[in-house]
Amino acid sequence: MNREHPAIGATTARTVEIDGVELLAFHGCGYLGLAHEPQVIDAAREALARHGASGLASRRTSGNLELHERLESRLADFMGTEAALVTEDGFIADLSALQGLAARGHDLGLLDADAHPSLVAGATITGIERFDYGPGDVNRVIALLDRHADRRPLVLTDGVFGMHGRMAPIPDILRHLPDGGLVLVDDCHGVGVLGERGRGTIEAFRVPMDHVLLTSSLSKALGSSGGFVAGSSAVIESIRRSAEAFTTTTGLAPPAAAAALAAVERLDSEPERLERLRANIGQLHRTARRVGIRSTGTFLPVLRIDFTTEIEARRLSAALHVEGLYAPAVRYPGSVGAGAVRIAVTSEHTAHDLRRLEDALERHLPESSD
Ligand SMILES: Cc1ncc(COP(=O)(O)O)c(C=O)c1O
Repeated sequence: MNREHPAIGATTARTVEIDGVELLAFHGCGYLGLAHEPQVIDAAREALARHGASGLASRRTSGNLELHERLESRLADFMGTEAALVTEDGFIADLSALQGLAARGHDLGLLDADAHPSLVAGATITGIERFDYGPGDVNRVIALLDRHADRRPLVLTDGVFGMHGRMAPIPDILRHLPDGGLVLVDDCHGVGVLGERGRGTIEAFRVPMDHVLLTSSLSKALGSSGGFVAGSSAVIESIRRSAEAFTTTTGLAPPAAAAALAAVERLDSEPERLERLRANIGQLHRTARRVGIRSTGTFLPVLRIDFTTEIEARRLSAALHVEGLYAPAVRYPGSVGAGAVRIAVTSEHTAHDLRRLEDALERHLPESSD
């Protein structure tokens, strides 16, 4: 039994059931409510009936499904890259990307200090030499690139740091990247949220993908499960051939692959969903201002409320729970204070939902929170 967080029962795009009680949910990363979209559920159900519940084997042996290939070409098309590769989750996408890049001769990794543990783990298992730079410290990146001018560098960074509310300085990094260098962008929190059409950080910055390899999870805004890597055909082919994290793991389960495919279709054909999310993001951060929280990353669907002690964060979360709202206290890499309550909105929250959130925060926010 998990003593930190209660087990969740049934869920909808806006609610969770805990101990048999339905709560209005402000948690997680399902920013577009796609996990509960009827067409996504139908696609998963059909794939389950056609292929069964499991991917059964690695893609390199007998587990390569048409469904995987369709999802890969749809993701490449969506991201505007030559190719894409689907993995079992976002963590494995980062491991696979790094193993494939190391096999292509990249031998130096410059890692943002706030980068997700999957990038850290990927750099570690490949054995490439690694230097960490302070959060977003482009000058340090430039200095390291100059000092190691004889190497084939990788810059390893999240596209957007969800818990910090900051974007990686990707245009600046790209400007200083030498020939043969590449930026590996983990865009788990950017895809489906940022950019005019929801293609993420790279679209938001309007920079070309030529020197970028992008990874992401399918389990956040895209509402399914799995991960992907998107980039040039040559790099994707190297990963497909040589990355053990990909070649020796089972292919994505068919219902998840089908759900992701349907989710990308929804996102592409339904721009109103992204517009609703943007409106709710605006409302969330206006609420923050009104209740006296200094929020960072006002372009993101996440509001982090910091406390000096974990117990205070838990107290606010418990008070919200009593009001019928679920917003958990979190401890996660990237939490800044000792404790934080993470509040996430989605495109599916109504104006009434957001009013309930604001009313509850007004009533229960202690003076000292930030
Ligand atoms: C930035 C980032 N990278 C990678 C992952 C791992 O993705 P997945 O949960 O699909 O393994 C996460 C998930 O929390 C994440 O936030």
